[in-house]
Amino acid sequence: MTTAKELVKKMTLEEKAGLCSGHDFWHLKSVERLGLNKIMVTDGPHGLRKQAEDADHLGINDSVPATCFPTACTTACSFDRELMFEIGKAIGEECQQEKVSVILGPGVNIKRCPLCGRNFEYVSEDPYIAGQIAAALISGVQSQGVGTSLKHFAANNQEKGRMISNSVIDERALREIYLAGFEEAVKSAQPWTVMCSYNLLNGTYASENKTLLTDILRTEWGFKGLVVTDWGATSDRVKGVEAGLDLEMPSTNGINDTLIVKAVKEGKLSEETLDKIVERVVELILKAQENQKPDFVYDKVAHHNLAVKAAEQSAVLLKNEGGILPASVESDILVVGAFAKTPRYQGAGSSKINPTQLDNAFDAIKALDGKVEYVPGYCLKDHSIHEDMIAEACKAAAGKEKVFIFAGLPDEYESEGFDRTNLDMPESHNKLIEEVAKVNENVVVILLCGAPIVMPWADKVKGILLAYLGGQGTGTACANLLYGKANPSGKLAETFPAALEDNPSINYFPGGTRSVEYRESIFVGYRYYDKIQKNVAYPFGYGLSYTEFEYSDLNVTGENCDLMVEVIVTNTGKISGAEVVQLYVAKGESKIFRAEKEIKGFEKVFLAPGESKQVSFKLNSRSFAYYNAEISNWAVEGGAYEIKVGASSQDIRLSAKVEVSGDEEENKIAYLEAAAPVYFNLPQSSLEVSDKEFEALYGRELPPSERIPGSPFTLNSSMEEIQCTRTGQQVLGMLQAQMAQMFGGDDNEDGDNDIAKMMEAMVMDMPLRNLIMMSQGQLGTDQLNEMICLMNEELKNR
Ligand code: BGC
Repeated sequence: MTTAKELVKKMTLEEKAGLCSGHDFWHLKSVERLGLNKIMVTDGPHGLRKQAEDADHLGINDSVPATCFPTACTTACSFDRELMFEIGKAIGEECQQEKVSVILGPGVNIKRCPLCGRNFEYVSEDPYIAGQIAAALISGVQSQGVGTSLKHFAANNQEKGRMISNSVIDERALREIYLAGFEEAVKSAQPWTVMCSYNLLNGTYASENKTLLTDILRTEWGFKGLVVTDWGATSDRVKGVEAGLDLEMPSTNGINDTLIVKAVKEGKLSEETLDKIVERVVELILKAQENQKPDFVYDKVAHHNLAVKAAEQSAVLLKNEGGILPASVESDILVVGAFAKTPRYQGAGSSKINPTQLDNAFDAIKALDGKVEYVPGYCLKDHSIHEDMIAEACKAAAGKEKVFIFAGLPDEYESEGFDRTNLDMPESHNKLIEEVAKVNENVVVILLCGAPIVMPWADKVKGILLAYLGGQGTGTACANLLYGKANPSGKLAETFPAALEDNPSINYFPGGTRSVEYRESIFVGYRYYDKIQKNVAYPFGYGLSYTEFEYSDLNVTGENCDLMVEVIVTNTGKISGAEVVQLYVAKGESKIFRAEKEIKGFEKVFLAPGESKQVSFKLNSRSFAYYNAEISNWAVEGGAYEIKVGASSQDIRLSAKVEVSGDEEENKIAYLEAAAPVYFNLPQSSLEVSDKEFEALYGRELPPSERIPGSPFTLNSSMEEIQCTRTGQQVLGMLQAQMAQMFGGDDNEDGDNDIAKMMEAMVMDMPLRNLIMMSQGQLGTDQLNEMICLMNEELKNR
């Protein structure tokens, strides 16, 4: 067979440059004379989002029906690699039927702050969990001869300013927290592609960041696939080629391809560098072509059943006072909450899927318990309090044995494109729960949301089941869990803080319009809360079951860091269930600042009543290592460590001490204790890190967080920034009109306003350069530069 290298040799310079960008929104280009066809890539990642006709990447126009699996925030809680593989395999099969070669996901960006609007699409606040869960999904998809695109590489942890913002992160936090999930997924699952993010990382756009795309990704981690931009993430295309960015998507109507040709002709870019890039594009096309299964048809029913199973195994039982759950069909139960009939089951934006069917909880409950009654309790469209609806719910609830209230976050509360500003549910939901709990003491709240919320009513209800965004089978899964046909086994892959202010990043999120400083460094999620023993609503790794598990016989064998840890887990209750056994590594006394403990292993075990199983974990030097920025490498600090095994980060059942010898290199640590004491002695109050301390850790001067007033506009200036000029206002007006024309009003069936809100936020954050892509050939660089001149003139004349 002809190799990619040979094919590239047969191409003209123009053909090669052409292959560096997409044919349209979802296809790569073809070179027919060389047998290279147009292959299709489409969004995911919790199902297939293949658009039927009109191309947009914002989840607005409809896509072909596909199984909507639970979103990543949900499936992460399954802590189940096999389940993730199964879901991936099913998604791969759907891609095969729909002739899609690469699905764009999974997303492993760390949940730095619960406000990030896209957290529902991400896995965890912990990189080990993110990497493990993503790797299993990738392996499943790719087992079907379909590629994945691990995204968004890297440090894209918020929606605000995502296209222009500079993520300022110290080297250690970058490696330990923000890159480690990608590293794990790349090393163990080799995704066919990696998608670079929109933002800058420490001063350089991800799309032209050689350290990231070549030195770390390829040289250090051994990535073999292709790097694609996030849609419209190219800033300087030629720099991108040099940095190792292979494919620009969708395209700039040939403008950037021409720049590549010009750079080669002028000797500014070597043709060998270009060839390497093009070879990888050709390799991807060949691989996709070889793996196509033209007549493949997937089993819709089986996939729906898998979606139900995934939702059941991922839901987290947060509270079950007095064993209020599971309910019996004999009980007299009232279902309250419009979400029971119209579930919130996935998030808004580019991942939005058109499900093959959609179960609702009320119908599923009714099928189990025919006499159950329902009242809506709140409006789906208007989130203000409707006293009449609450009164109706209270009247119906009084005297019932139990009340199930379905509540959570409506679509427009969390989405791609914008971040939340608080952790509150709509007041209509909160008030409903409060009032119903006054007339009935047996209330169970079922939460449908994609990220942590605060629950001011938590003490007043007996049960809380977190269904997260459970995909198209969420209704059936909820019914099965509530009535004990399924036993909850999900554990939180993120902390639910008691209050937003407790979050370690909160004083620095979302940062200024030009940069966001990750001043909390490695203290993300439970790494922070545990360190200062902060009271949280529900800790990382937490989740209840209808049965109980006992841990015994912890046994650690091996040498130094290469250890085997074994533990026996027994189901001591009366029904079958699954436990997520978690292993944390803790270094008590340390010369460097570090988390109280870090998760380094987990296994999910399924146990019949009375059954015991041995669970084993393998540890290696990486399980103990920290990233030493002084030597740009991982290092192990010598001394005593504790291996902690338990049912959650705050429910450690067994522990063992081990002694580990350190690396030589460890002596080169810059302890920073004098220069940045805050990290060694975290305050109990809200985390504040002075400029000086963060600068000492960052090792460089901090960049300005806002645009310097009066500084000239460039192609990377955002709509928000240019609107201070007349020309800018005109440009913005044109763009808004175009968006309105492209996407019309709100097509959301339940009337929520998520799309309008997303469009508004995205438009303001959009850099001028993206107008080329948006205008689909109408605008070129020259026209944009003219506009920029006009705006700069206006600035000068002020
Ligand atoms: C999103 C990506 C998505 C791409 C294509 C971007 O706006 O950030 O996650 O895959 O669009 O739709």
